[in-house]
Amino acid sequence: MDSISKLAVIGAGKMGETLIKALLETHLLAAEQVIATAKHARRLEEIAERCKVAVTLDNREAIAAAEVILLCVKPQTLRDVLNEIKSVVRPEQMLISIAASATTAFIERHLDNTAPVVRAMPNTPALVRAGMTVLCPGKHAREEHLQRARQIFDAVGRTLIIDEKYMDAVTALSASGPAYIYVILESLAEGGLKVGLPRQVATELAAQMCFGAARMVLETGAHPALLKDAVTTPAGCTIDGILQLEEGGLRVTLIKAVVEATRRATQLIES
Ligand SMILES: NC(=O)c1ccc[n+]([C@@H]2O[C@H](COP(=O)([O-])OP(=O)(O)OC[C@H]3O[C@@H](n4cnc5c(N)ncnc54)[C@H](OP(=O)(O)O)[C@@H]3O)[C@@H](O)[C@H]2O)c1
Repeated sequence: MDSISKLAVIGAGKMGETLIKALLETHLLAAEQVIATAKHARRLEEIAERCKVAVTLDNREAIAAAEVILLCVKPQTLRDVLNEIKSVVRPEQMLISIAASATTAFIERHLDNTAPVVRAMPNTPALVRAGMTVLCPGKHAREEHLQRARQIFDAVGRTLIIDEKYMDAVTALSASGPAYIYVILESLAEGGLKVGLPRQVATELAAQMCFGAARMVLETGAHPALLKDAVTTPAGCTIDGILQLEEGGLRVTLIKAVVEATRRATQLIES
């Protein structure tokens, strides 16, 4: 597949900038092929300085020459942006939206033309190319459009394509998830601190351990419970640690975190 000729990033905030940087660093796109917008000039100055891409406060101008339009604004802003650009979006351009909560049907309704739409849910580890992105197609998007979107997100980590009905759950698990893991990681490091490890050492141990455990699940394909059993020797110390986790309700708490975040993910577009 040919690479993307021109990309417009509408709303180059935290995720938009992360994606721009990753696309430039992986040489999927050159800086001349990208144009970025934001609400405030100050933000655009930062993007221009750090990424060396073209910038404009005018969303309609930004999309004029774009083959792919990447919508990275907040869900609450998306409706206004779609209303602003709909008269200049051409059916041969494709749109990719990373906005939580916004369905492809919502975007298509506001665009009111047949431009293909792909919904994407990335996460911030994309910055270090360890991202997890889930894609789903809108009603005018064909395989080639999904593959176009996949080109972008494969550059920043793993990509899965699934049915749109799962997207709020995806948002709550893999997009919000890094925040849960940072809380866990920070807490484990503080456990290390409590038993005398220097803070920096404890943080490094906790982070590399989480990284290694995640790789074990992905690369062996083994069920996490089996991997846990392999660490937990009879009358050893791990089982004492696990007892404390169970008593503290860690499992229930994490399950509830995903359930509650999924519920909220259905509402963002209206708030
Ligand atoms: N952060 C995550 O972990 C994550 C993960 C997956 C998906 N997402 C999705 O990514 C989207 C962006 O999230 P974020 O965390 O990157 O938020 P953010 O940092 O606030 O970025 C939003 C950007 O949109 C710009 N903007 C606001 N109104 C605009 C307009 N009318 N035209 C053009 N640009 C406009 C803002 O410009 P100014 O800076 O000038 O105000 C800002 O730079 C959200 O829809 C979110 O659901 C985020």
